Amino acid sequence: MASSYWVAPSLAANRESVPCRLVPSPPSYTSRSLSLHLGVLIREECQELVLSDGQVLEIMKRLLTELNRGLSKATHDTADVKCFTTFVQDLPNGTEKGKFLALDLGGTNFRVLIIELGGEHHFDMKSKIYAIPQKIMLGSGKQLFDHIAECLANFMIEHDLSSERLPLGFTFSFPLSQRGLTKGYLVQWTKGFDCSDCINEDVVQMLKDAIARRNELGRLNIDEMNPHLCGGRVENYLDKTTPISPERDSNLDLPVLGSLAQHKTSALANYATEAGHSNLRIDVDKIDVKIDVCAILNDTTGTLMSCAWKNFNCRIGIIVGTGSNACYVEKVENVELFEGDKSKPYMVINTEWGAFGDNGALEIVRTQYDREIDSHSINAGKQLHEKMISGMYMGELVRLVLVKFTKSNLLFGGKGSDMLFERGTFFTKFVSEIESDKRGTFTGCRQVLDELGLSHATDQDCVNVRYVCECVSRRAAHLVSAGVATLINKMGQLSVTVGVDGSVYRFHPYFHDLMVEKISELVTPGIKFDLMLSEDGSGRGAALVAAVACRDR
Ligand code: GLC
Repeated sequence: MASSYWVAPSLAANRESVPCRLVPSPPSYTSRSLSLHLGVLIREECQELVLSDGQVLEIMKRLLTELNRGLSKATHDTADVKCFTTFVQDLPNGTEKGKFLALDLGGTNFRVLIIELGGEHHFDMKSKIYAIPQKIMLGSGKQLFDHIAECLANFMIEHDLSSERLPLGFTFSFPLSQRGLTKGYLVQWTKGFDCSDCINEDVVQMLKDAIARRNELGRLNIDEMNPHLCGGRVENYLDKTTPISPERDSNLDLPVLGSLAQHKTSALANYATEAGHSNLRIDVDKIDVKIDVCAILNDTTGTLMSCAWKNFNCRIGIIVGTGSNACYVEKVENVELFEGDKSKPYMVINTEWGAFGDNGALEIVRTQYDREIDSHSINAGKQLHEKMISGMYMGELVRLVLVKFTKSNLLFGGKGSDMLFERGTFFTKFVSEIESDKRGTFTGCRQVLDELGLSHATDQDCVNVRYVCECVSRRAAHLVSAGVATLINKMGQLSVTVGVDGSVYRFHPYFHDLMVEKISELVTPGIKFDLMLSEDGSGRGAALVAAVACRDR
């Protein structure tokens, strides 16, 4: 997505004009006038999802108060927007060099990355996504970090990195109270994670402990295997070591693995099978992992860093994905909680604005649907701002509205479906798909409705379903915009670039435009801004924070 200076694109072309009040009912309905009338009723019912200008300004005022309360020592503990110190005080300048590992935990998946920064804004990156099963998201901290260590070990073997000691940046996208660049204590889980024994623990230490546990096991296995490892060649118990072709191993008909680390691994596996050690469980990843954790960071910080690497004007990082959050560059004199060396003038602050409203500040705009989402979540009463915005909740919000309208006979002739009435069936990507239809056409919408068992929907139902999606996504975009404008105005810089990432921002067809339009209404006149799509902030940003940290060591 190209960045654009605050020229608000005309959304009018894409939007119908929306009457807000009921038109007088005609004395008797034809089926067309009845469906139009239902459309009007739906628009009326949706009014609670539309933020007025006055509400938006009030939200900005309250958010600014909370940001300042988070920064201040006296009020930090009771503030809902914590404004955590990140210990990131330098932005990259594009000349950073080196090879870095990065871990990215915080969305629906976990990723391991290897990134090579070549200076001159050049970089090379390889990554692999690993699923985090729900059992682990809700299990113990030890299980979670053992899983992370296992994925890391596998990745290092696959990429032939086991013999190197690499600096690592850990993007850990949850609220952390940081006591240094490599010390972060978990304050609370968000976004569907709820692992036990982690709150108030240093998650860097938990990662190191998991790696140590794993290495201990690995060493035992490798020691056992040593006699069979000859200068990087693998001999197995059948004494056949020459592959019949460069790609195949003669004994096992397996692809020949390319590295010493992989040879070790396959040798261990062969050893276990062929020596009849059926009760000896040898995983392919029990190999020493040598890393040097250089930094722990939030995904917003990663986003800011990866955009600042290209555009030195970037001072704000935003995520609108599974969760929502923002970080920004603050004057160190305003960061009362930071007790270190104040000779550097700035510090990136992780606002954790997802928790805005947990003190009641958003009650002026929260609806029955928001309350229902919250009451069914695993962290009721928490992250109320995030629950009105982010991808983890947006689809479900739409579903709740559709259910209400179906039950009151405003949609689908009053006839829903089992799927519609089941929680979690309306994915957030459906909102983007429905809103991507050219106005007046319903291809995406019908596909979604068919999938939900609602193929009896009329064209007018499709128009109405789209309208509900628009209200929910527009409200989210306006809340994010109010937050961004609050930060821009607070910073008072005449021109600022905002780095943005996250699936909602990336894939929703109008989110970017809605944000540009709304922020330009809300920023102090004279201030210029642009929104820049971050290219993989969680990965490249982690490498950059690690690079800047290593540079300063
Ligand atoms: C949640 C997390 C926050 C993260 C955001 C986006 O709000 O608490 O740390 O930045 O999601 O992933």
